[in-house]
Amino acid sequence: MSLAVQQSEALSARLDHVRKALIAIDQAHVLTFANELSSEALAAFLDQIEGLGIHRLASWAKEAVIQANATVDAFEPAQYRALHDRDRDADQYRSIGQDLLRAGKVAAFVVAGGQGTRLGLEGPKGMFAATPLRKLSLFQSFAEQLLAARQQYGVSVPWYVMTSPLNHDQTAGFFAQNDFFGLDPHDVFFLTQGVLPSYDFSGRLLLSEPGCLATHPDGHGGSLRALVESGAIEDMRRRGIEQLSYFQVDNPLVSILDPLFLGLHVAAPNSSCEMSAKTLRKRNADEPVGVFVQQGHQTRIIEYSNMPKALQIACDSQGHLLYDAGNPAIHLLSVAFIEHLMARGDLGLPLNRAKKIVPHIDLQTGAHVTPSAPNAIKLEAFVFDALPFAKSVALLEIDRFEEFAPIKNSMGADSPQTSMALQAERAARHLEAYGIRMPRKADGSLDCVIEITAQAEPQLHQIQNDEAHQVFESGAQYLLCVKEGRLQVDRLL
Ligand code: UD1
Repeated sequence: MSLAVQQSEALSARLDHVRKALIAIDQAHVLTFANELSSEALAAFLDQIEGLGIHRLASWAKEAVIQANATVDAFEPAQYRALHDRDRDADQYRSIGQDLLRAGKVAAFVVAGGQGTRLGLEGPKGMFAATPLRKLSLFQSFAEQLLAARQQYGVSVPWYVMTSPLNHDQTAGFFAQNDFFGLDPHDVFFLTQGVLPSYDFSGRLLLSEPGCLATHPDGHGGSLRALVESGAIEDMRRRGIEQLSYFQVDNPLVSILDPLFLGLHVAAPNSSCEMSAKTLRKRNADEPVGVFVQQGHQTRIIEYSNMPKALQIACDSQGHLLYDAGNPAIHLLSVAFIEHLMARGDLGLPLNRAKKIVPHIDLQTGAHVTPSAPNAIKLEAFVFDALPFAKSVALLEIDRFEEFAPIKNSMGADSPQTSMALQAERAARHLEAYGIRMPRKADGSLDCVIEITAQAEPQLHQIQNDEAHQVFESGAQYLLCVKEGRLQVDRLL
């Protein structure tokens, strides 16, 4: 028997086997076009089905049709603490965090698998020009923080960058074209998150092509499995990394390596936490951020889309929002906790369902169909659903002006415009803290554009002496940077 015949027989045997298994779980319709596929296309299709796992295709189908996240058990507002610069505890935690950083035990982890659809972007969101003056991409602005940390703490901080199959090549290409923004390429580790199949409302799998299941990225909760499967955790172990600083690609104000938060995470309350989170006061009841709640001893986040409206708007007797502990999506996770969680199998986390429009193949005609209304369920894991599994959690309140200026929408709230204004506002406040007068309009808003490089931030105190005469003028643009070790104020316009 020729090799070609043997291969073709093996492929048909494989197809029969998969067909039987799919019949048993009532999903054999996905093989409608199997006989029309070339051998290569059929082999790739069977790889996809077997790679996802027949038993998992069945259990996800159940999750897709059951209202998994529609009901939420009773909860109360979460307890959280603010640590101010003048707190004695804060000094202690900060110094513990600085020691961790100097010892090289901390890595950065950005989840950047999203496509920036709301922003109207074609490519990865991290490529978006985000800063008010230099228009640094989000990726470059984070790299700048890591470069500044290298100078400050004397160690290179490894950076794990999670992409999705939809944007991996473009993301990795962008880093390469930009010489990794000055970072050592050995300190940047890309990992790609997994995918989950999309289902119609009755739990049937959809095809995106005659020989391909419709799939989507598995949510940022998929990052934990991706960290393990990509070898990133192993890489961390080799480097002696113990704590991972997790952040989203859409927030240019995130303080990636915050010694105070790190110190609180590893040393309070007298013990090391497995996972910690920052929280900020919601700006109003409608702000689309998850909220921290308490369920018995557990802290968890209820995503804004799952928060019952009555609780979302509920106020105390003074008129303050009861559920005001918003989620800026900034976490610390111990490496040991991630390993422990992943030992549970699968994604280790519950799946959330969302109704979405999923283009697919019509099984009668074989034509591509793009519905005009949601037709499918996408399942996603959320990283913050790991919080209830953590033995202890520290929740630290932050000042939203300091650390939160997300870029989500092309216009209006949380847009590039609002984010850039907030970035400039933070810079102005930092200068005002040193007694510098900033031009402001009658309504208090800033009347110039200002950007401070990450390297210049720790040098700002120099402005008190050398630049006390500095007058910042209305309508002008200023960049504060460091040249030859000295703080410099460049007027750009
Ligand atoms: C998210 C949080 C919300 C929080 C808010 C703060 C979720 C579900 N909700 O809302 O609680 O208050 O941010 O800004 O996250 N991502 C991936 N892979 C995926 C899906 C998302 O890497 O499969 C990344 C995106 O690139 C982005 C981040 O996760 O960096 C957030 O995703 P997005 O869906 O935009 O969440 P939001 O609705 O903004």
